Order: sequence, then C-alpha cells, then structure tokens
Amino acid sequence: MTETTMQVPQGRLQILRFPIEKHEKLQAWDAADEYLLQNVAEKLELDSQPSVLIINDSFGALAVALSAYKPCVVSDSFISQAATRQNLILNEIDVDTVRLFNSLVLPQDKFDFILIKAPKTLAFLEDMLIRLQVNLTANTQVIVAGMVKHLSASVWQMVARYIGATTPSKAVKKARLIYAQVDLNRAVPINPYPVYYPLENTQYQICNHANIFSHKSLDMGTRFFLAHLPQAEKYQQVVDLGCGNGVVGLIFAAKNPNAQLHFVDESFMAVASAEENFKQAVTTAIASFQAGDALTDFADKSMDLILCNPPFHQQNTVGGHIALRMFEQSKKVLRQGGELWVIGNRHLGYHVSLKKFFSNVEVIASNTKFVLIKAAN
Ligand SMILES: C[S@@+](CC[C@H](N)C(=O)[O-])C[C@H]1O[C@@H](n2cnc3c(N)ncnc32)[C@H](O)[C@@H]1O
Repeated sequence: MTETTMQVPQGRLQILRFPIEKHEKLQAWDAADEYLLQNVAEKLELDSQPSVLIINDSFGALAVALSAYKPCVVSDSFISQAATRQNLILNEIDVDTVRLFNSLVLPQDKFDFILIKAPKTLAFLEDMLIRLQVNLTANTQVIVAGMVKHLSASVWQMVARYIGATTPSKAVKKARLIYAQVDLNRAVPINPYPVYYPLENTQYQICNHANIFSHKSLDMGTRFFLAHLPQAEKYQQVVDLGCGNGVVGLIFAAKNPNAQLHFVDESFMAVASAEENFKQAVTTAIASFQAGDALTDFADKSMDLILCNPPFHQQNTVGGHIALRMFEQSKKVLRQGGELWVIGNRHLGYHVSLKKFFSNVEVIASNTKFVLIKAAN
C-alpha cells in the first residue's frame, strides 16, 4: 500500500496525489519535502509570524504542513493547486489559509522565508529566481530542496547567480537542501522569458513561457504531427489536449478555419503561451483556453476531434499513466465517429494502449522515430 500519512514536525498529515486513483502506487511527497519541513521547523517561530513563500510544491505537502504560517504558494501546475486544496480539506484546514498563485502572477510582498522545491525544468527555476527578486530582503532565508539527482550543477550555479552564495546541507535519504545567502548587490540580468522562435514554414513567432515543453525549438514529434494534421469540414469541435505552446491547434485552425478549438493544459504557462500564439496568428477560428486536468471539464460526447502529443512526465515522475487517462477520457468525450489523433515515439507503444479503449486504431504516418495514430469510436 502506498503511504499517505506524512509524519513531520508540523504534524501527522494526510497527503494524497491528485487526481485520486484507486490503486495509486506513487506517494504524494518525497524525502526532500520531509527534509525541508524538518529543517524549517527549527527556524520558523509561529509567534513572530514569519511570512512564507513556497514555490513549486508538488501535491501540497509543504503548503498543508506550513498552513499555520498562511503561506503564499506559487505553482505552474493546475494539478498541484487542485491537490493542495484537496489536501487542505482532507486535513480539516480552511482552504483560504493558503494563498495560491499561478506562476504568471507572483505576489509582490517581501518574505522572511522562500522555500523552493527544485523544478524539473531549469528554465522555470531561472524564471522564478529572476521574478522573485522583488520578494527578497537582505534577511530573507532562501532554501531550495530537491532529491540529489535533480540538483544538478546548473541548479547550484543558478541559485548562486540569482540569489547569492550557496551552502549545501548534508544529504539525507538522497535529498539535499541548498541554503542561499541573499546578496542584494548582485546584478540580475533581464528575464529572458518568454522566449520566441519562428515556426518553420509559417509567418508565426511562437511565444514560449519558461515552463513550456520544448521551449527553445519545435519538438521533432510535434513537427511530424504538424505535417500530417487532417483537414475536413466534419471536424467542428476540436481539442488540443496537453497543448503546450499550442502549435498543434494553431496549425490545425489555419487548415480548418471553421473549426472551434479548445486548448487545454495543466500548466498555466502553457495555456498562456497557447493563447498568445493563437491571438497573434489572426485565424478566423474561434478558440477557448483553459488550465485543467486532461479532459475532466469536457462533456461526454461533445467533441469531433482530439489532437494529443501526450506527456511522458508529471513533475518529476515518468507518466505513461497520464497518457492512458487521456486516452480513456477521450473515448468518453468524443462523439460517435469522433477521432483521437496521437503522436508518440515508436517505443512508447501507444498503438497497444489505444486498443484498450478504441476498436478502430490505425497508423496514419510513421518514420524511424515517430508514429501518428488515429483512434476512432
Ligand atoms: C509532450 S507535451 C506536448 C505539448 C504540445 N502539444 C506539443 O506538441 O508541442 C505534453 C503536454 O501535456 C501537458 N500535461 C501534462 N499532464 C497533463 C494533464 N493531466 N492535463 C493536461 N495537460 C497535461 C504538459 O504540461 C505538456 O504541455
């Protein structure tokens, strides 16, 4: 059985992943969360009401454990925010004690403690470290926590460059903390994010906020998908599922100007990038943009086409299970005769997974690396 009770100095807390799965195999927090909570328990004095900013909490373990300090919590993940609310309720804590911010709008206050769970993407860490300069005072204690394998030399260098001199903790259960001494005299460069690249064979400049999948250039799988997108009047209601910067839906809309597009991603930065890209592209198509968990907010039998380049990670966890959920939900959300188009690396075997849910599964195109598959109801 997966452990759901987190025993830390702040208490015995129930922390679940989101969405809740019956046979969940993965725990909702890790040794780095425990280590950080252990460490700050000795430093945070409730009586002096220290102000606390938490960045990139996974499923709310940090926010729930530190809720007595009414922390501000910044995340790029819709799922992380939903998990935080769920876990606060589960532990009978008023949801409003924690102030949740999406990664595009940081609080502007000064903080005594800034606690950062090292993110998977270095670019996201860089963007956060630059943008949190407004939150620093000379006395702010900045602590970055992560599993040793996620704390590369680049992470250390980045923390030193944007905050100040770093000191390592000893490693405990393969987790480590980086303490950074704020140096307000550093010259902090202008934030390079969002970054833009020209989309090949088009006039479009593609906007990519820092936490976007393949933010520096077009992903090879996406390129293969773009070259084979369908065109037909029957595709009226169309989802770009896990849209990232939205190039798949954007090029589909350019080919199918009468379609109505729905862009969805669990990353707030992805949805913001997709919206900016679509609005700059001046297509006549109508579109909606929403942060959400896969197709949870879509009505059954409401869509004609779903376009998907599935994620292979959720935060730091490899996630074939997310692709499977997306396929299962697609089956429900598609109308009779509706189609799910999936691009993937050959070795991921999406062909086999799709057959679990769809009776008609067909390869549309393939090359040595990628397969584009159509699954129909
Ligand atoms: C492989 S990327 C594809 C991005 C884009 N469609 C492309 O082809 O460049 C997968 C995307 O799925 C998103 N994602 C991961 N889990 C999700 C979930 N549960 N619901 C919605 N989107 C999710 C990720 O944030 C990421 O943007």
